[in-house]
Amino acid sequence: MNASRAAARSADLALFGATPVLPRGPAGDPHGTWPIVTDDERRAVARVLDRGILSGAQAPEATALEEEFARYVGARYCLLTHCGTSALSIALAATGVRAGDEVIVPAYSFVATPLAVLHVGAIPVFVDIDDATGCLDPAAIDGAVTAHTRAILPVHMHGCAADMAAIVACARRHSLRIVEDAAQAHGATCEGRRVGALGDAGGFSLQSSKNLPAGEGGLFVTNDGAVASEANSLRNFGQDVWLAEAAGCDAARPLDGARVLDSKRIGSMYRGNELAAAFARAQLARLPELTERCQRNAERLARALGELPGVDPPRAVPGRTSVHHKFRVRLDPERAGLGVTPRQLRDATMRALVAEGLEVVLWQAAPLPAQTLFRQRDATLGFPRPRPGGTDLAANYEPSRYPRSQALLDGSFVLFSQSCPLIAQPAAVVDRYAEAFQRVWNHRDALAAWAVRQSGSIG
Ligand SMILES: Cc1ncc(COP(=O)(O)O)c(C=O)c1O
Repeated sequence: MNASRAAARSADLALFGATPVLPRGPAGDPHGTWPIVTDDERRAVARVLDRGILSGAQAPEATALEEEFARYVGARYCLLTHCGTSALSIALAATGVRAGDEVIVPAYSFVATPLAVLHVGAIPVFVDIDDATGCLDPAAIDGAVTAHTRAILPVHMHGCAADMAAIVACARRHSLRIVEDAAQAHGATCEGRRVGALGDAGGFSLQSSKNLPAGEGGLFVTNDGAVASEANSLRNFGQDVWLAEAAGCDAARPLDGARVLDSKRIGSMYRGNELAAAFARAQLARLPELTERCQRNAERLARALGELPGVDPPRAVPGRTSVHHKFRVRLDPERAGLGVTPRQLRDATMRALVAEGLEVVLWQAAPLPAQTLFRQRDATLGFPRPRPGGTDLAANYEPSRYPRSQALLDGSFVLFSQSCPLIAQPAAVVDRYAEAFQRVWNHRDALAAWAVRQSGSIG
């Protein structure tokens, strides 16, 4: 134990009674909240209300957003959906994933990733993540492929682009489709190209906490015209609404069309609405500027935290960028010189930082297969059965098979929150976060001793 650290008075931490680094209270909360609503959004929403057109596949705000976002991502086609999960579901179905097929997904993501697979009747098959980024590990894919594998669903986790070059190579080897879950990664790049349509199709989320927020909503993207047509049909009750039909649509009455309503596929109603589309367009106009600010914030914070022994902030990976939708910080007790477990250190540090006034969340605490849905695989609730020759789900859904996902979650937390994410913060708040972390780390011996006492009193 470092002598000066050991001598540090534990009362120097807010957890033990000191004044917090980032005090809240009557003076107000210094955090920036998200989304940032300006007169641009107000005017956009008012424009919709004045126009009186609130919905429709060919409604003006939806189609304008689709064009603008397609241009932003560098995709040929984009479709607005009512959420990111539905964008992923239509992407999977439109690229040919069918009931009983298997789709490879990372063991660490938000549950919407495997749920999108289940919604088309297919079976999510988990693989572990890579340590550096928390994204699907391409090296783990080969071992998970069976005769029934149809697609890979990589997630650009926390805004960091997955290793698409390796994933595309793997997909080619096994003749698999790729659908990108870019829900958290608007504007992230791989070898200079924005993610989303680097595979066969992809889905983004417009949910309030995302870097491109609109309340709720999603955006499907692809470069393949046939996939776009199929996806458009799937989001419109399975009717044949070919993209070309826009030409014959009365812009003032987008709900009235000449076509006969005939459903050809098991589609649903996954379209977005005009209020969300108009809001998202105003946000998209500022997305490049806000993304840059978020990346500057991340660099600033990573530089400061990277100097603390045993603290690992997100790091840039050559050839890939992150838009830092979430800022996950990993702690290594051994390198920090502490005799506690990763979980003890994670929980104690979190408590100490929250006491200093910081927003800190776990977000997820276990690999996805640990969730009840996957533990039970209840066929009476519609959980699909694997086909003969397919993956042994009892084995694949065993959470202990994902040690890198578990280790990441045991030893890390997310700085900032859904309501106050990094992208919303002024530099001054980011600097207070660095200062608070430094303060806590200077007293980590006292904190670790406190953590051990806490575990003892609980155990
Ligand atoms: C990784 C990931 N995938 C999918 C989704 C689903 O998006 P939505 O909530 O818009 O359906 C989210 C966010 O909620 C997400 O974080």
